[in-house]
Amino acid sequence: MADVVLGIETSCDETSAAVLVGGGRAPELASLVILSQDVHKVFGGVVPELASRAHLAALPAVVERALVEAGVGWGAVDAVAVTQGPGLVGALLVGVVYAKALAYAGDRALVGVHHMEGHLFAPAVEDPDLAPPFVALLVSGGHTLLLDVPAWGQYRLLGATRDDAAGEAFDKVAILLGLGYPGGPPIERLAQSGDPARFTFPRPMLDEGFEFSFSGLKTAVLHAVRASDDLERDRPHVARGFQDAVLDVLVTKLERAVRATGRRTAVLGGGVACSRALASRAAERLAGLARVAVASPRLNADNAAMIARAGWHRLGLGERSDWTLDARADLPLPGLETVVIPQSTIRNPQ
Ligand code: KG4
Ligand code: ZN
Repeated sequence: MADVVLGIETSCDETSAAVLVGGGRAPELASLVILSQDVHKVFGGVVPELASRAHLAALPAVVERALVEAGVGWGAVDAVAVTQGPGLVGALLVGVVYAKALAYAGDRALVGVHHMEGHLFAPAVEDPDLAPPFVALLVSGGHTLLLDVPAWGQYRLLGATRDDAAGEAFDKVAILLGLGYPGGPPIERLAQSGDPARFTFPRPMLDEGFEFSFSGLKTAVLHAVRASDDLERDRPHVARGFQDAVLDVLVTKLERAVRATGRRTAVLGGGVACSRALASRAAERLAGLARVAVASPRLNADNAAMIARAGWHRLGLGERSDWTLDARADLPLPGLETVVIPQSTIRNPQ
């Protein structure tokens, strides 16, 4: 068993390294360094080529900083866990090649981690007692996954998005409203002063099973923005109406999943789980049904601590990656199986 794991995450626009230190039962977070690439703000979205270059320039210093802050030398590190995918292939490649070189030169163990499995493990970094079974809603810029998790590594896919991811919808609507990238944080801020009754947007697929669709909602917002004669005045209200629609769909499906599986814990993960509005609405909706487990925001946004934590688990099972480990933009989630719960057996939320 590894006692000190170095995690590396470079799948999108955060260059991150973290150190987990164990020895006892649960590993503890000794350091987490996240360098956000501000360059993309200018372009209103992530520019892949710029992301790769920025990772290349920053990663050695970010890793060094994580080791210094953890108070451990490289000599104490037993294993390196790195995001293998999914994500931007050039960005992933920087992390994978760097991790491989470190592990190979230092004769350390190496393990490739799936980015979304990292998001799933994020609350476990802060809550050592968090363990399956639970249902999980993973909502990021690239994915919207509703999972039943009977055990770590066993992922029963209840539903996913048919088009845009939840975070992607926030980012696109932010552009329509003239807000910056990423879109979630400014929309959540504006929505606080928005009137929930001014704009009511559609709740796509609300009454159907566990799948999601957000592209029609984005179009509805586009029409509202075009029809507005004073966007300055309407902006907070549109933000509020949009956020309410997305969160209503997310928590309705989460509640449906909790009722269908009978799980007593619901995990929220991914960048959209930084939303305090999402966490509080999920807790309200699931009161008496399940407890909501959600990490603090810096662990829900892309970070290497969650990668180190998922890697820790896989290393504990004896898993190792070999030197052929390669970045994969479309890496499938290991242990994922699709389950179909017939519509007739789904008890709808009251
Ligand atoms: O997991 P993440 O950091 O990166 C990916 O793996 O994609 O997720 C980023 C997404 C972005 O789309 C961003 O707008 C969204 O998370 N996000 C939020 C909030 N904070 C970040 N969405 C809604 N409300 C927030 N407070
Ligand atoms: Zn992510």
